[in-house]
Amino acid sequence: MNTNISVEESTAPVEIFRTDYEPLPHAVTKINMDFNLNDRKTIVTSELTIQPNKLYKGNSKDLPLDGEEKIVKLLSLSMNGKDLKEGDDFTLAPGKLVIKNPPAGAVLKTVVELVPEDNFKLSGLYKTGPMYCTQCEAMGFRRITYYPDRPDNMAIFEKVRLEADKKAYPVLLANGNMIDNGDLDGGRHYATWTDPFPKPSYLFCCVAGDLGKIHDTYTTMSGRKVDLQVFSESHNVHKLDYAMESLKNSMKWDEDRFGLEYDLDLYNIVAVDSFNMGAMENKGLNVFNTAYVLADKDTATDSDFERVEGVIGHEYFHNWTGNRVTCRDWFQLTLKEGLTVFRDQEFSGDMNSKAVKRIEDVRALRGGQFAEDAGPMSHPIRPNSYISMDNFYTATVYNKGAEVIRMYQTLLSVEGFRKGMDLYFERHDGSAVTCDDFLAAMADANGADLSQFSLWYFTNGTPVVTYDAKYENGTFTLLLTQKSKSDKPLHIPISVGLLDKASGEEVVPTKVLNLKEMTQEFKFDGLKGEVVPSILREFSAPIKLISASGKEDEEALAYLAARDTDGFNKWEASQKLFTSLIFQAKDGGMTEKTYGYVKEAFGRTLTNKESKDYSIIAYALIMPTQNTLAELVDVVDPVAIHKARGAVKKRLARDFATELKERYDELTAAMEGAEFKVDSESIGRRRLRNVCLGYLCEIYETPEEQKVASEIAMAHFKNASGMTDKAAALGALASMDGEGATARDEALEIFYNDAAGDFLVLNKWFTIQAMADLPDALDRVKKLKEHPDFTLKNPNRCRSLVRAFTANVAFHDESGAGYAFLREVLEELDTLNPQISSRMAGALISWKKYNEKRGLVMKAELQKLADMKPISADLFEIVSRGLK
Ligand code: ARG
Ligand code: ZN
Repeated sequence: MNTNISVEESTAPVEIFRTDYEPLPHAVTKINMDFNLNDRKTIVTSELTIQPNKLYKGNSKDLPLDGEEKIVKLLSLSMNGKDLKEGDDFTLAPGKLVIKNPPAGAVLKTVVELVPEDNFKLSGLYKTGPMYCTQCEAMGFRRITYYPDRPDNMAIFEKVRLEADKKAYPVLLANGNMIDNGDLDGGRHYATWTDPFPKPSYLFCCVAGDLGKIHDTYTTMSGRKVDLQVFSESHNVHKLDYAMESLKNSMKWDEDRFGLEYDLDLYNIVAVDSFNMGAMENKGLNVFNTAYVLADKDTATDSDFERVEGVIGHEYFHNWTGNRVTCRDWFQLTLKEGLTVFRDQEFSGDMNSKAVKRIEDVRALRGGQFAEDAGPMSHPIRPNSYISMDNFYTATVYNKGAEVIRMYQTLLSVEGFRKGMDLYFERHDGSAVTCDDFLAAMADANGADLSQFSLWYFTNGTPVVTYDAKYENGTFTLLLTQKSKSDKPLHIPISVGLLDKASGEEVVPTKVLNLKEMTQEFKFDGLKGEVVPSILREFSAPIKLISASGKEDEEALAYLAARDTDGFNKWEASQKLFTSLIFQAKDGGMTEKTYGYVKEAFGRTLTNKESKDYSIIAYALIMPTQNTLAELVDVVDPVAIHKARGAVKKRLARDFATELKERYDELTAAMEGAEFKVDSESIGRRRLRNVCLGYLCEIYETPEEQKVASEIAMAHFKNASGMTDKAAALGALASMDGEGATARDEALEIFYNDAAGDFLVLNKWFTIQAMADLPDALDRVKKLKEHPDFTLKNPNRCRSLVRAFTANVAFHDESGAGYAFLREVLEELDTLNPQISSRMAGALISWKKYNEKRGLVMKAELQKLADMKPISADLFEIVSRGLK
């Protein structure tokens, strides 16, 4: 046995390009693994069966295996039972073990040693709380064993055997089905698992821990019974029911909508506290960040419940879109992520309210993805290059990617889209493919020409479409002009409907216009009189729509805000009115005309007693987010936008003080004594009541007003029916000073004590304070960073304070103190968890967007990060893009 084969130091960051893709000379077609888990010493033995790769056209005869030499210490290496000789049979360089000329059918055996307890990157095999778990996407498997760690290598994981101390780790899980288990000497035990479906290494998973669980079953459409289990630490088992319910709903929905059935006899989900992302779709063994699986009324808000449902759906839907058909290379990530986000959005829309879901998704897209696409991280949904793939799990790949998928459906119809999906699975089940394959399936199944549509995969940036509308003698003419980063025009579906101006009736129901030229005219004939157009209904394309004149027709917006039959555009019209008014407030003062329109719409919505669509009402009253507003100007002054937004909110709050209080009281009365439910109506009621509370707390000038506001908020807090109301009240109280300061401090203390150490509730406690609108917010955050419950080692906790603060206007204080604080945190964090440090560095890279003074301070902090030695490849990529 050749022990401790050593390699030299790692090399500098390398950029990988999409167009350099080449198949491997050989493929690993089968793997057997053995995990021997011991404190601070885990031994992993792997046996890889190697076959020549038919797709390979090059001249190499060798098989390169990936492995992070500092994490996986290679203890021995043999082929077909014989030790291999370095130089003759293999070479070992940083990150790469190259096997020279392996014969067809060769079995390569490696033995490596790991220390999962020291793995704070949370990639590969690591320890979180009382359990071991793995995260392999994108490139974590190479931190477990030497392997062709790329998604086009799909292999059968024939046997995965786990062995550990039985008392400390009674539960041993891996992908697929368990085929053997038993006790061993010395208090140890083992379990062996097999997964019949070929998969890439990034879908591998194993877990060992002392876990509680809930169990249920689901009978698939063809009558197969599937066991469902959701695991967590025992003290959280009572918070797993909603996840289980959501899982069953997801399974049913995918059968109904896409004819897709689950394929194993067992579906396991494990909740872990330390996780870099939301969750992971490992075949038959999903791992979830506890934040996206645990939910009960006392610890989770309605939004948390919605997210649990959405993420459970998302990971389940990956079983077909991601696992059965996977990505050929990581540049194709949107193939599975854009598609699966689209699927989870549709699922959530069907489970709750389509219009509400659409509004929420577009709010998120505009607040996050638009900004990303306007800054230094801008990339097409299929990126052209990366240094660290983990940096490209972005809003663009996920959310804009989902918008691109939605456009296929808009262009081809729901039925046409289904045909395309059917053909996609017929052609590609069991293989690793590209975005082009998906597009081809959609085109071929529908006899459609989507060649121009393919430009969406190459074009970064948010396209702008301007419209010019004109009515004359029964004809309405719409002139659309597009501008994007593509020099050829994109194919953009623009959904349009027309309302008769006199009667308010919809005279032309929604019609999809195919904008395929740079400038294109669309005519609607035979109209009986003037019309008001409703353009980009349901947000039919991820673009910015602006009027050619540069000025919105506020009268038309007010008209649509009152009457549009398209729920999304009705909301959109009210948002556009808000936006005009906020920018007026910022640039010299609100005009009475615009305020009049906003006031009219606000009052009508607030006092609308006919509709039970409380969420829709609530969203119509909520102003555009700070980020959405920032996206609309060339030079951002966050403090000025914040002030202007506040001024509008305060004015409306005062003008509608009576109505707000009335509505608030009426909702309070309706909720009293009612059973607590998490359905659309109850969620909507709580949402609307909390919006009213938010406005009422804006009336906060005189000591008397401050007392009144803090009393309402405190009562709301103390009588809260669950976490939604409790967190909303604390959010309002947290920003109070003056007469409200005592109530604020009292509520914060009560909230902390009530949490009784609950991990997710404490995260909220940190977040609410980090976002507080107080002049000394930064000092408070600095103090919280030293709190005994704070740690940089847990990503959720870290985000709950530090990332939350980057959304606070105080982060942008012109002194630069907020920026310096973030930089200091990142310096520390980067040595622990580069995925998280690089993500949070995103708050500094868009310095060019800000006014010069602020921008230069931000840039200087970025430069300090760039000069840091050592720096992770992840953070290096983000800061160097930011400095370019
Ligand atoms: N595939 C996961 C999802 O469904 C994301 C995991 C990515 N993790 C990472 N470290 N890059 O969204
Ligand atoms: Zn995903």
